[in-house]
Amino acid sequence: MLDRPIRETRSIVAGAALAAALASVAGAATTNAAATNDDRDGNRSVAARLGGFPGILGFLHNFVVPAELADPEIAPFFARLTETPGDIEICLAMLLDHDLGGSSPHNGAITPTGHQCRSSMSNIHRGLNIPDRIVDKFIAIVGEQAALVGVAGSDIAEVAKALESYRGGVRNK
Ligand code: HEM
Repeated sequence: MLDRPIRETRSIVAGAALAAALASVAGAATTNAAATNDDRDGNRSVAARLGGFPGILGFLHNFVVPAELADPEIAPFFARLTETPGDIEICLAMLLDHDLGGSSPHNGAITPTGHQCRSSMSNIHRGLNIPDRIVDKFIAIVGEQAALVGVAGSDIAEVAKALESYRGGVRNK
């Protein structure tokens, strides 16, 4: 039990370092896509505690995406994409970083492939017909993975709240 937080902190740091490396190799997103650790609220923001944009991107890439795709009910929704998986991860990481107090733009950033992160959740998820139950599961998996890497329960609740705020635009479109 005692060594658990230490191992978990290492996982987050490793994820953040990997994401930062990936972002810089890829040429990073444009300046306003700002792959920085800055935040609007010092270390008091949830985004800062998750490692800012690079930490969140690393967490999505290394933990959330594999866990979501391992779920037989979630995976089919990601079978036919119009955007690259990397672009989806970057745009979602920025959205979460922004909403959790970080410095990323809410939308409109240009990723290294030239994709511009879209603003309308309804348009992004149009035609997917994602039921409420699947949104619940998607958010629950994010929470499970966050718990696995040692994110505090109160921060997991904030992440869930941020995702939850988009439910209306995501479901049944
Ligand atoms: C719960 C809150 C959710 C948020 C905030 C969210 C947000 C996003 C964002 C930011 C993107 C990338 C947008 C862009 O390309 O500019 C995206 C793409 C996508 N999301 Fe979600 N999402 C949510 C839930 C879900 C769920 C539950 C599913 C399915 C199980 C899903 C399936 C997808 C798919 C398939 C794409 C790629 C669409 C494409 O390639 O055109 N999302 N989402």
